[in-house]
Amino acid sequence: MRLVEIAHQEISRHLNPGDSAIDATVGNGADTSFLAERVGSTGRVYGFDIQSIAIDITTFALKTRKLLKQVTFFQESHAHMLDRIPQAEHGQIRAILFNLGYLPHGDKSIITCKDSTLVALGQGLTLLAPGGVISVLAYRGHEGGEDESDAVYEWTRSLDPARYSISIHEGELPQRKGPVLTLIRSIS
Ligand SMILES: C[S@@+](CC[C@H](N)C(=O)[O-])C[C@H]1O[C@@H](n2cnc3c(N)ncnc32)[C@H](O)[C@@H]1O
Repeated sequence: MRLVEIAHQEISRHLNPGDSAIDATVGNGADTSFLAERVGSTGRVYGFDIQSIAIDITTFALKTRKLLKQVTFFQESHAHMLDRIPQAEHGQIRAILFNLGYLPHGDKSIITCKDSTLVALGQGLTLLAPGGVISVLAYRGHEGGEDESDAVYEWTRSLDPARYSISIHEGELPQRKGPVLTLIRSIS
């Protein structure tokens, strides 16, 4: 199974109709669409991306699938998520998804950076509901990707094991430069 499918499968276990979720890296919208479908018209997905093209592509995809109503976009860094998500939702978000790196078929020089990724992950813990999950898919093949992936790993090691359970997945043929999926589950 592909890592993105493992991530979606895990999130499906935590996310139900009416819930709230965050897509921290909207990109081409596959993850936003998945989350929007899962939470349904009574739920809410907050989507972050620094590129207007990502928001535009995803808006079109969601509109076509009649999923736009339950999505709120922010064209800015996920490092601002704590300021942007309404106070009433703090501690209530059931799933937060990070799919790091660059926009596929887009500008490969615009990538997520470890410093802002770590800030956003820290904020994610404040936003996360008990029993919720943060999923981080990191790619080690591009410049800076391995550093970012290592930083995420070190960050997970700093978490209290009594509060968070961590699992790490690599592809079927693990490669040093291949992708890594980290799942952080809040113990309720
Ligand atoms: C691998 S793509 C995301 C794929 C996407 N989830 C999908 O389903 O297609 C990574 C995205 O992260 C975005 N990005 C880079 N830095 C960011 C930041 N600081 N905050 C939010 N998004 C960022 C890029 O613009 C790019 O669109």
